[in-house]
Amino acid sequence: MPAHTDEVWKTSAVASAYLEGVRAAIPLAQEQLDVMLRLLEAGGRPVRDFLDLGCGDGALGAAIFERFPQARGVLVDFSEPMLEAAGNRFARQSYAVRCANADYGAASWIASADARGPFDAIVSGYSIHHQPDGRKREVYREIFGLLAPGGLFLNLEHVASASPWVESMHDALFLDHLERHHRDRSRAEVEKTYYARPDKAANILAPVEAQCQWLREIGYTDVDCYLKVFELAVFGGRKPAGAA
Ligand SMILES: C[S@@+](CC[C@H](N)C(=O)[O-])C[C@H]1O[C@@H](n2cnc3c(N)ncnc32)[C@H](O)[C@@H]1O
Repeated sequence: MPAHTDEVWKTSAVASAYLEGVRAAIPLAQEQLDVMLRLLEAGGRPVRDFLDLGCGDGALGAAIFERFPQARGVLVDFSEPMLEAAGNRFARQSYAVRCANADYGAASWIASADARGPFDAIVSGYSIHHQPDGRKREVYREIFGLLAPGGLFLNLEHVASASPWVESMHDALFLDHLERHHRDRSRAEVEKTYYARPDKAANILAPVEAQCQWLREIGYTDVDCYLKVFELAVFGGRKPAGAA
């Protein structure tokens, strides 16, 4: 399996390294979820149907279900270990959750979601940045097609830094959080793991300004970067109420 593709996420080693060692250490992770929920609530109606693209173990979906317990959620990922972790997370809950194994690297992923839409909200967490920029734009267009009029797309995403100096600020912030999370490890060990992580080579980061512009060109409104600290952004937009 080539180490530079997002296929690395299909391995148990990469999935569990992220879920056990990185997810809880993401800087401002709770604030990102808070902003996501605030925007979903501002829609003026409860979220009934949502989709989480590249769901991992369902962290975003869990936050949405907690706020909108009556919602129906479709969780899409192409990694069996991740889907298994998502299944375990929701096993004892009564939420209407459906997990689907699909690869959004190709438009055929839509079949896993189409029949369950249109969606009031489509969210994604730290996932779409594994696609080349051209494919990112297509995915944003496919998401637009799956949204109900007035529905929101929110991407909690790893985006490109403006310069190597800003990138070093991002790395320093993330490393500080990882060091606090892994109290049994030295800073040198934390840095070694961070820089050598197998999924790093699969990142294809794009600036948030460019991605917001792509969304506007597709037809989304209210497009903005709602929160950002260095390379971690919450951005997205709304399908206009009158759109088909
Ligand atoms: C960094 S994890 C984020 C997981 C989760 N969204 C979160 O917020 O913790 C990236 C996830 O995207 C999934 N992923 C990456 N490329 C994918 C693709 N082409 N199709 C479906 N899922 C993909 C991976 O399997 C992994 O679960």
